[in-house]
This record gives sequence, structure tokens and C-alpha cells, in this order.
Amino acid sequence: MSTKILIQGGPALHGEVSVSGMKNAALPILFASILVNDTCTLENIPAVSDIAISLDILRQMGAEVSYLTPTTLRIDTRGMTDVSAPYELAKKLRGSTYLMGAQLGRFGKATVGWPGGCDFGNRPLDQHMKGFDALGATVTTDSGFIHLKSESRLKGSSIFFDVVSVGATVNVILASVLAEGLTVIDNAAREPHIVDLANFLNSCGANITGAGTSVIKVRGVERLHGCTYSIIPDMIEAGTFMVAAAATGGTVRIRNVIPKHVESITAKLCEMGVTVKEEEGDTLLVKGQSSYRNVNIQTLPYPGFPTDMHPQFAPLLCLANGVSCIQEGIWEHRFRYVNELRKMGATVVLDSRTATFVGGGKLYGAPVDAMDLRAGAALIIAGLAAEGKTEISGVDYIYRGYDNIVEKLAGLGACIQEVTVPDAVPVDGRH
Ligand code: EPU
Repeated sequence: MSTKILIQGGPALHGEVSVSGMKNAALPILFASILVNDTCTLENIPAVSDIAISLDILRQMGAEVSYLTPTTLRIDTRGMTDVSAPYELAKKLRGSTYLMGAQLGRFGKATVGWPGGCDFGNRPLDQHMKGFDALGATVTTDSGFIHLKSESRLKGSSIFFDVVSVGATVNVILASVLAEGLTVIDNAAREPHIVDLANFLNSCGANITGAGTSVIKVRGVERLHGCTYSIIPDMIEAGTFMVAAAATGGTVRIRNVIPKHVESITAKLCEMGVTVKEEEGDTLLVKGQSSYRNVNIQTLPYPGFPTDMHPQFAPLLCLANGVSCIQEGIWEHRFRYVNELRKMGATVVLDSRTATFVGGGKLYGAPVDAMDLRAGAALIIAGLAAEGKTEISGVDYIYRGYDNIVEKLAGLGACIQEVTVPDAVPVDGRH
């Protein structure tokens, strides 16, 4: 049996929706709790499968985890030891790279299976390794595992990243929080989830300054203590609802958003002719129109336009007037939605890292396959705006990062449902 999402396209979205906590902030914070060696209460945790897998990893490594409410959990990491992470689980998600920094920081050693995550082509870890090496750890790899070891307490150092990397910035912060002396991270990632991680660790007694700028300073402390902390709202989930509202010509009030975090998304939508109004209480009102201007998009590290919002804009550009382009600046294989959109009637020309969309046409429902998380979100938006029925397979990718997306969209009036269907039988009848 397999699960699919069925969408009958057409209805404009209307009503209110609340954004969940941010997956890409919750993941590093969960792994950072290893360093805390105490009990933390974490609020606004999204119900997504990447979080469930991370919690399984932490449990198998000795953490005690219990949910106090559907979005609040308590995690006690005092019983954790320096055992290596369960390989089969760790390889399922990218966030497991954070085990390297967290375990190294707490135990002086770590063994982690080469991490998984969505396939965007080359996903190197050289900047992570450069950071660990600068702090005094030795890094070796063998048959799918990465081993990190430090003979004595890690020592603060200066690290200049060659590329802006969210993961490497997180890992060096994690490894340096309990190190001796000052660590200076230059050309650091400035994403809101980096700031959230630093705020969480500072609430536990760490001394981190500069998060949100490209120079982060971490002054090592002897120990951390537990705290209660609330994860920031997910800017990518918010952006996905913003585009869905625009693509269906609907009017949607989106609650639990930090408007600053979605500024680049808001700016692009406004350039196309969508109305986005900031309201009191972390709320945005998005009003779609019947036609849009074409735009060009280039994805960049924050505060530039996020790569994680690139695929969701694609169906909107198919509907806009004229020719639009998306130039992908982060991941070479972020275009795995293109062929699926073509099945829905889109005219897209793909050349290396640039997709050109010939707008002004219509999208038509079709059976399509979600090949990664944000590609899946793009197909949902395309299905909502299309004429006819869309059937999306590969939905597990979507559930990795979207909390109750089917229910939330149905609450906005979308004709969308999850169905479980028998697997297709090959033509010759063999399974
Ligand atoms: N890079 C290197 N060397 C490194 C690390 C990265 O060259 O050692 C390069 C990558 O190849 C890429 C660029 O630097 O071209 C940025 O990669 P980054 O390390 O920032 O990505 P990541 O930490 O692996 C996180 C998110 C991704 C998001 C990117 C970029 C998590 C768990 N993942 O990945 O989120 O696309 O940052 O913002 O936080 C998603 O949620 O859909 C998702 C893929």
C-alpha cells in the first residue's frame, strides 16, 4: 500500500492558518540538547517526520523524551553516553550531521554515519571538517562513518568559512560552546535558525554573540543547564502558504509568522502583484489576484531569497504573464519538480542552474511524483491551482517538513485528501 495526496484543483484558498515551529531550527536545537546534559522543555515543536526520526536517534542514544502537549516536549540528556548514532536512522536525515558537533562538544568524540537528507547533488561536509579540525579534533572516515576525536578539551579558534553553510555554522557553534576560550566564526550563515540555536544555547548558559551577522563569537563555558525554550515559526511553511494563496487567487490570513523572516518572499510576491499586509500579532494577510507580472528570482543565503522557497514559486511563475526565471544559487539539483510540472502543462526550459518559465498558460491535474520535500510542496501548489485532479505520490518527502499540510489546506477550503492505495502491479503481474 502507498499513500498519495489527491487534489481537485480550482477553489481559491480562504480563511486562516497557523504556522508551526520551524523544522530547521528545531533540529539543531534538539541535537544541541545533548550538550546541555540536563532537562530542557522545548515548545512549538512541529509534527514532522524529520523530528520524529531525530527523537528516535536521541532516545536510542540514551535521552529520555516525553511529550507534554502535542507541540511541547521534555528532553533529558543526562543519561546519554558517547555511543555512536544508530546508522540506519542517522542516514535518513541531514540534521544528523549535528550529532558530530554535539557529541564532540560533550564527549570529546563522535562516530556518525554519513548523513542523508534530500538529494540535491553534491552535499559536501568539508567546511564542517575544517571547523572541527581548527578546534583541535582529528577527523577520519571509513566505510560510511565519520569519526571525530579530541585528546583534550577542544580549544577555541578562528574559522573563516569558504562558503556560507548553515550546517557547518551550526556544527562549529555546537562544538565550541563547551570549548576552552574564544571561537570566532567568520562568513557564518545568518539564517533565523542560527539565531534561534544561539538564543537557545544562551538560555542554557552559553556565551554566543553575533548570531544573525556573518561573524559569530562563542566564548566557551564550563557547563550548560536546562531551560524552557520556544522554537521560532517556520518561515518556509509560512512562505508556502503565501504562495498557495497567491496561486489560487485566494485571501489567507497566516498566523504565527515573523514578517522579517519572510521579507524576501513578501518582496517577490509584491513585485508580481500579490497584496501582502502585515497585521498585529505576527500575522500576514495575503490577497491573491487574477493575474500576475513575471519576475526573476535568484536564490542566495539569508537574507537573500531562500532556496527552500524556489520550487514553490515555480507553479506561480507558470501562471504569471510573460517569461520568468529562477536561478538556483545553492543546490545544483533543486529542479526535480520541473518534469513533473511539465506533465501538468508547464512550459519550462532548464539550462544548468536556471529554469525559464513561459507563463500565461494553465496548469492541468496529472499523476506526479514528489522527489524531495520542497518539490512536493511545489506540486501541491500546482495541484491547487490546476484544472482537474492531481495525484501526488512520494508524499513521505512532504511529511518530512510540513506539519499536517493536508489538514491545514483543507481548512482553507482546498479539495485535498490523503488516500492509501494498493501498490501498482507490474504489467506482467509479478510483484
Ligand atoms: N557546502 C559546502 N561545504 C560544506 C557544507 C556546505 O560546499 O561543508 C555547500 C553546499 O554544497 C551548498 C551550500 O554550501 O551549496 C549551502 O549548504 P548548507 O550547508 O547551508 O546546507 P545544509 O546545512 O546541508 C540546510 C537546510 C536545507 C537548506 C540549506 C540552505 C537543514 C537540516 N537543512 O542544509 O534545508 O536548503 O540549509 O539553506 O537545516 C529543506 O528544508 O528543504 C532543506 C533542504
